[in-house]
Amino acid sequence: MPTAARCLALVLLGLLTAPAAARAEDGYELWLRYVLVSDATRLAQYRAAVTGIVVAGDSSTARAARDELARGLRGLLGSEIPVVRDGARGALVITGTPANSPTIAGLGLREPLSRAGAEGYVIETRGGSKDPQPPTIVIAANTDIGVLYGAFAFLRLIQTHQPIDALDIVESPRLRHRILDHWDNLDGTIERGYAGASLWDWPALPDATAPRYTDYARANASLGINGTVLNNVNAKAASLTPEYIAKAAALAGVFRPYGIRVYLSARFTAPIEIGGLKTADPLAPDVRAWWARKADEIYAAIPDFGGFLVKANSEGQPGPQDYKRTHADGANLLADVLAPHGGLVMWRAFVYAENADDRAKQAYAEFTPLDGLFRTNVLLQIKNGPIDFQPREPFNPLFGAMPRTALTIELQITKEYLGFATHLVYLAPLWEEVLTANTHVNGSGPAVRSVLQGAAGVANTGSSRSWCGAVFACANWHAFGRLAWNPGLTSAALADEWLRMTFTNDAAFVEPVKAMMLTSRQAAVDYMTPLGLTHLMARGHHYGPGPWVNDAGRPDQNSTYFHRADAAGIGFDRTAGGSNAVAQYAASWRETFGRLDRVPDDYLLWFHHVAWDHLMASGRTLWNELTARYCRGVEAVRSMRATWASLAGRIDAGRYEETRGFLGIQEQEARWWRDASVLYFQTFSRQPIAPDSCGPPEHTLDYYRSPGN
Ligand code: GCU
Repeated sequence: MPTAARCLALVLLGLLTAPAAARAEDGYELWLRYVLVSDATRLAQYRAAVTGIVVAGDSSTARAARDELARGLRGLLGSEIPVVRDGARGALVITGTPANSPTIAGLGLREPLSRAGAEGYVIETRGGSKDPQPPTIVIAANTDIGVLYGAFAFLRLIQTHQPIDALDIVESPRLRHRILDHWDNLDGTIERGYAGASLWDWPALPDATAPRYTDYARANASLGINGTVLNNVNAKAASLTPEYIAKAAALAGVFRPYGIRVYLSARFTAPIEIGGLKTADPLAPDVRAWWARKADEIYAAIPDFGGFLVKANSEGQPGPQDYKRTHADGANLLADVLAPHGGLVMWRAFVYAENADDRAKQAYAEFTPLDGLFRTNVLLQIKNGPIDFQPREPFNPLFGAMPRTALTIELQITKEYLGFATHLVYLAPLWEEVLTANTHVNGSGPAVRSVLQGAAGVANTGSSRSWCGAVFACANWHAFGRLAWNPGLTSAALADEWLRMTFTNDAAFVEPVKAMMLTSRQAAVDYMTPLGLTHLMARGHHYGPGPWVNDAGRPDQNSTYFHRADAAGIGFDRTAGGSNAVAQYAASWRETFGRLDRVPDDYLLWFHHVAWDHLMASGRTLWNELTARYCRGVEAVRSMRATWASLAGRIDAGRYEETRGFLGIQEQEARWWRDASVLYFQTFSRQPIAPDSCGPPEHTLDYYRSPGN
């Protein structure tokens, strides 16, 4: 039976999993598994099309592109593909920029290259049937990093068995800032990390840099991620001491060739804690001078330092409000000292004041009055929903409400509220849902994805050999990076791509597993928080059900605060008659969310307190619908397990077995969520649980509520 002890064990298991010697299929290679193309026809085509590589330039980035192409093609085509000099003839892959390659400069690529921009790339097949020379594949960009991104994209085509005989691709990132946020502590632990210890070996840095750092950079560059925040948003001032700046600089040196800038989370009171000042008031001249000197010091060590991420006046972190200043005052102080160096401030909007009438309204209430007051190098970093990375939330109303502020969306890759690394929950559908949500602030638009300048993903990486604590958890790292590059990509396309690159192109495996991935998020919503319920997890560790939690340090962290179940019904009334959180949305959403006859089932109990006997569109009462949804979640996991069981033998045993075992745990725990939740809510509804395929709950409510279970 799942227990809190198991939850702890899962975390410890990760922590104790020391990196082992390299093994063939243990997940370490991620989606960069360059194995021989299995389709003989395709393999023959690829071999004929690629007999040599030309890589112009000798920067560390150009060398990374050359090495990746050589490594990838060697694996995929099964033989060494020579790196040849520019001007050689034959079926070649030619890469470079107009500046470093006369060949590229002479190809007339001005127009596509202008579309590719600073980080994008062009991939074209040149020459062909009438030409006596075999066709050439050109990977061109305006910069070396564009070439590297193009090299990864080209390898991806081969990894996913795409035709390469008539390529005509121009790609550029839609978002400028594509960043992983590590919640890694300086003691090697990771807040909300389920994949072992921190990747950063702080004690060994800066003198020793593990080869794994390069593989981390390769994985990120293959997706287009261009920044990494090394330390937890709940930051220690020590991360800004000379000792840690040197360590960050060593990591920056490894990441630089891969286009990844290093950022640090900054503690607002660092001027006091490590600077010896009496105050951290953002308007105090000595505070300003301290931060300016600190910025100079950091840039002397890391010339391309990205900037600071700040969690201020949130969950006990210090901030400008401690000095009666605003978030804008705080952000602008740091922005001003970073601006001369080209740095950014990512200021988080995750705030909720204690004892406010509705936690969901807090960020909007605090930040919208500040629209237009932030410096241009400040990005306001906003979680996807108004609460906190729950299985389903409506989009955060701040998107669309701050037209004069640069915005970045914060998504959580690590599954704090979705079963840690163990539960197979593919998050791309969740992210797609928010990215494509139409804010309607201007009537017909814009969509959330159109108001963004960046995306930040709370990383799920750690020291576990497979990086993410489970092979399938890495699909979320992959999806985040690809969506940050292009938020228009679909979760289905990304699942397809990831499966082919990570496992096999065998359609008999890819199709059923893709279907399973695409249903997995709704399954988790159903067995954890159906019908718009939210924040019902156990206290502290956030693993497993805790709808009864009512003793958290503050009321707005209690489950009871969120579900508000009573004898009459369940749900949080956020209509005009309740907290009126609906007023933070555009008019058409106010109508949709605010009216019981219009609100989608998915958001019903988020916005309404609904009678147990309320008749749902399904024809069931709310109570019966709620219990049916819980059971539907369990059934979905059962069917995921059955799908997986039917695929035995189609992939390697190691990764197959890991997933088989974890799906078994997930089914037990989906059942645990369902049994505990329906029993608890039944104490309010006082109605029987209609017979369903899940059967009567296994234990009593007291059992589920007792500590240790
Ligand atoms: C959640 C999470 C914390 C984290 C916080 C944040 O509350 O549980 O661990 O620090 O989000 O995003 O700042």
